Amino acid sequence: MNNMVIAIDGPAGAGKSTIAKIVSNKLDINYIDTGAMYRAITYKAIRDGIDINDEEALIEMAKKTQIDFKDNNIYLDNEIVNEEIRTLSVSGNVSKVAQIKEIREIMVELQRKMGKRYSVIMDGRDIGSYVFKDANLKFYLTAGINERARRRYVELKAKGHKINLDDIVNDIKNRDDIDSKRSFAPLIKADDAVEIDTTSKNIEEVVSDIMEYIK
Ligand code: DC
Repeated sequence: MNNMVIAIDGPAGAGKSTIAKIVSNKLDINYIDTGAMYRAITYKAIRDGIDINDEEALIEMAKKTQIDFKDNNIYLDNEIVNEEIRTLSVSGNVSKVAQIKEIREIMVELQRKMGKRYSVIMDGRDIGSYVFKDANLKFYLTAGINERARRRYVELKAKGHKINLDDIVNDIKNRDDIDSKRSFAPLIKADDAVEIDTTSKNIEEVVSDIMEYIK
């Protein structure tokens, strides 16, 4: 039997990871946060002093890097980096790193391997439009910029990050701009994706909408 693949794409802060995690628990399948993979590479570059503009150095580093998911933890070279990859400094640089075609190819290969090994719900920007064009189901989540920024703010504040709302708005606008304009596999709604505007919906409502489609 083929594995089931559910793709959830959309811009930053639209609720993808929160929703995908809950749906993965309900269906008892794996949840893969592909943004975390690009974040892990970006975190490693910053940590190791690699120039974010030096594409060759970033590609070389990515080739030698191991990224894994286990029990909802992300491992970078066998070390859990769940918190380290969420800082504003990683957020501010990740779109630049994620533009690099060779780095995307390495990540996409890993993502496709995961989808072959087991059933997954995968969230990102290009899952339905590029990584798994033949996914069983595709969703595209959106929300207004102010609501998306507010959600990120609440989430990061609760984790103890020192941040202000204006910085988050700017970060999200900047990333949306780079993510949707890059030439290779940009952020785009796949033609056959179901679009859900989550601006005025709570988590339960979005989960319930998605579960209806899955049924
Ligand atoms: O979902 P997130 O905010 O953690 O994603 C971080 C960045 O990674 C995002 O700004 C764009 C990039 N990304 C991507 O290019 N392709 C994906 N499939 C997932 C994320």
